[in-house]
Amino acid sequence: MSTLPTTLNVPADASSLPMTLPRLLEKKRLGEPIVMVTAYDHPSARAAERAGVDLVLMGDSGAMTVLGYDSTVTVELDELLVLARATRRGLTTPFLVGDLPFGSYEISDEQAITTAMRFVKEAGCDAVKLEGGGETSVARARAIVRAGIPVMGHVGLTPQTSTALGGYKAQGRTAQTGVRIAHEALALQEAGCFSIVFEAIPSALAAEIMPLMTIPVIGIGAGPAVDGQVLVFHDLLGIREGLGARFVKRYAHLLDEMVAGVAAYADDVRERRYPGPEHGYSIDEAELRELRAALTPPV
Ligand code: KIV
Repeated sequence: MSTLPTTLNVPADASSLPMTLPRLLEKKRLGEPIVMVTAYDHPSARAAERAGVDLVLMGDSGAMTVLGYDSTVTVELDELLVLARATRRGLTTPFLVGDLPFGSYEISDEQAITTAMRFVKEAGCDAVKLEGGGETSVARARAIVRAGIPVMGHVGLTPQTSTALGGYKAQGRTAQTGVRIAHEALALQEAGCFSIVFEAIPSALAAEIMPLMTIPVIGIGAGPAVDGQVLVFHDLLGIREGLGARFVKRYAHLLDEMVAGVAAYADDVRERRYPGPEHGYSIDEAELRELRAALTPPV
């Protein structure tokens, strides 16, 4: 039985209609907001599936949210593939995008295609995402698309290269950098990307670029003019410690609930309230007598 609040607008057909690229484009054409969320394992994928989201991103943010790294830079491809496989096992309806980690696609087109293939063949992803709109990223996006794998672009704040960008901060706040981001978005679109993420850019900049975009644009800290929104699972549910970025809206405080639950369990164990009789297994009296007899040492 579903435990979802009845006031939530969860599509009734959420589990029967798999998301496809034509359906995504149709949503953009109709002006229907597109919902994307990250997921990194089976429970988060099941939550996304049951909530009826359109796109799931197995983001490299999983390096930080579930693997405990300080940034997304150091995570290995094989680590993300494990997370992508677990995510895949939890999904049937949303379109699954696997995030190519830093260092797994920049070196050559061949490296990029090989990595993208692994996400598709080994983890069952429908598409991949790569960061950046410079010459290298655009060339890699084009090569992967030509190899037959849909690619999502990502411009603005690109965490894999945040050191070069001067830190985790909004991008495109000057005319010059705003124009650069617009050109990057257009170059990725021209390279064949099926969609693109705008991260942490002024809402007004996103609104200026939108009329030029024929592919669905998913925003995270890019204001309301874009075609859809994405948030990190752990941010929106409050599973991560610390303050999130300005664009994060918290819809739950699950970490507090998790701590409270574990603390209550610990308290029950220490006070001998757990386990109770209802948590144990019984044994037939006759069997127990026989058992005791067998265990009694001979005198
Ligand atoms: O890895 C990630 O979570 C992302 C989103 C922020 C778009 O790239």
